[in-house]
Amino acid sequence: MQIRTRSGGHDYEGLSYVSEVPFVIVDLINLSEVTVDAEQKTAWIEAGATIGSLYYRIAEKSPILGFPAGVCPTVGVGGHFSGGGYGTLLRKYGLAADNVIDARIIDVNGRILNRESMGEDLFWAIRGGGGASFGVILAWKVQLVDVPERVTVFTINKTLEQNATQLIHRWQYIAHRFDPDLFIRILIRRVNSSQDGRNMTIRASFNSIFLGGIDRLLPLMQESFPELGLVREDCTEMSWIQSILYFAGFPIESREVLLNRTQPSVRYFKAKSDYVQKPIPEYGLEGIWRLFYEPEAKRPRIGNLYKIQHLVYWEEEEAQNSDRYISWIRRLYSYMAPYVSKFPRAAYINYRDLDIGVNNNEGKISYARASVWGIKYFKSNFDRLVRVKTAVDPENFFRNEQSIPSRWTKKDD
Ligand SMILES: Cc1cc2nc3c(=O)[nH]c(=O)nc-3n(C[C@H](O)[C@H](O)[C@H](O)COP(=O)(O)OP(=O)(O)OC[C@H]3O[C@@H](n4cnc5c(N)ncnc54)[C@H](O)[C@@H]3O)c2cc1C
Ligand SMILES: *[C@@H]1O[C@H](CO)[C@@H](O)[C@H](O)[C@H]1NC(C)=O
Ligand SMILES: *[C@@H]1O[C@H](CO)[C@@H](O)[C@H](O)[C@H]1NC(C)=O
Ligand SMILES: *[C@@H]1O[C@H](CO)[C@@H](O)[C@H](O)[C@H]1NC(C)=O
Ligand SMILES: *[C@@H]1O[C@H](CO)[C@@H](O)[C@H](O)[C@H]1NC(C)=O
Ligand SMILES: *[C@@H]1O[C@H](CO)[C@@H](O)[C@H](O)[C@H]1NC(C)=O
Repeated sequence: MQIRTRSGGHDYEGLSYVSEVPFVIVDLINLSEVTVDAEQKTAWIEAGATIGSLYYRIAEKSPILGFPAGVCPTVGVGGHFSGGGYGTLLRKYGLAADNVIDARIIDVNGRILNRESMGEDLFWAIRGGGGASFGVILAWKVQLVDVPERVTVFTINKTLEQNATQLIHRWQYIAHRFDPDLFIRILIRRVNSSQDGRNMTIRASFNSIFLGGIDRLLPLMQESFPELGLVREDCTEMSWIQSILYFAGFPIESREVLLNRTQPSVRYFKAKSDYVQKPIPEYGLEGIWRLFYEPEAKRPRIGNLYKIQHLVYWEEEEAQNSDRYISWIRRLYSYMAPYVSKFPRAAYINYRDLDIGVNNNEGKISYARASVWGIKYFKSNFDRLVRVKTAVDPENFFRNEQSIPSRWTKKDD
């Protein structure tokens, strides 16, 4: 039987608990302790802990320490850190995986290894290459980062009638050059523009955190993105931990909710990812809006420049019609092809998408077949991941639909 390792259970294709072949789940939910050392600015986090509990435990110890990981508090660190981990601090501090300094992993022989005993190649592989191919990660040690006592947040909504298209277009040219303390993402969705719901428009939410106070933010925005028209009234100063609650859509008064592992709303969805390397022209954006007006585009969303997350949701009553929504997002994905990265069309492993390719279920995993999806997630790092896999798990004990294949030899093809 195959091994399915589950930490937070947030895999977009359910690879930690779904398969067509027989499997056992190794569930790490009971290994979820977080130990923060505020003096050393480090933390040990067991793999079954959520990022919400990590943020909570950091804030408990210090108001000026933080950690750069994802937005949704219920995400598990086991999958999230091993696949990268993006969040609102990414412009200043990179990904969660960039801030991992040690780890404990059980290898295929049942040995518990740390950074020193696993060696730098395996330690490299589990920080972005996905954990599931290499063993069972038990815990991470991370470097915490400095955050100011007060940060500033704002969300500015603009519809097409309020020049959303032009603002999104402009943002693409400047967002990567903003001061590293400034992060602005855009959430784009279809909304009703008239009360009776007979007319629709597109609404872009410019959603931001600034690592500093309002007085420093206003002149900075005036200089770097005056078109957005940010004013003092749009801004709120708060602590970093409150900004975590704000971004996750919770009231900022009570942080206990960060310890709750239950997703507030569980919905059917399908997601895909893209990286944008040159700005999408306005007519390209307008073509996306046309797709958004199709009936299947219930609640699509599109994320950052460089990384876009395409997302479609549907209701439980529509479960029998899920094919319609999945085929809609595949059409959106085809439409996007000219505007995004090519050769390979890169994708983010933490937004798992089995459409981009899967391994053969039985026998030795084909390198040629695995490289179809592997190069999209990892580009030229794929071959190095294969070499690490071959060294640590030559028999492919840890395998799944998108696990790194071992034994990279010509005859395997
Ligand atoms: C609501 C929601 C919000 C999200 N927000 C963000 C975000 O803001 N930023 C972002 O970057 N991503 C985000 N993601 C994606 C998230 O990073 C990935 O789904 C991540 O892999 C989830 O990790 P997990 O431990 O919860 O998932 P799991 O389903 O438990 O695991 C995911 C994968 O990692 C493997 N794995 C898990 N634990 C271990 C372990 N201990 N050892 C070895 N392998 C392991 C699993 O086998 C599986 O292949 C979000 C996902 C959801 C559902
Ligand atoms: C802005 O849009 C978000 C969703 O993207 C919504 O939750 C929020 O209420 C809107 N704010 C205003 C002031 O309309
Ligand atoms: C939209 O942009 C046009 C042209 O730049 C400008 O004249 C108009 O005032 C803008 N509308 C809004 C609502 O900002
Ligand atoms: C938009 O309008 C449709 C059709 O009248 C309605 O079913 C839907 O609930 C409305 N959505 C929102 C967010 O108001
Ligand atoms: C519907 O929206 C379109 C595009 O935003 C607009 O041109 C049109 O006037 C709107 N119609 C009504 C009845 O509001
Ligand atoms: C945890 O969150 C879920 C979903 O929002 C909620 O139903 C439940 O009551 C919460 N549990 C606690 C202890 O607050």
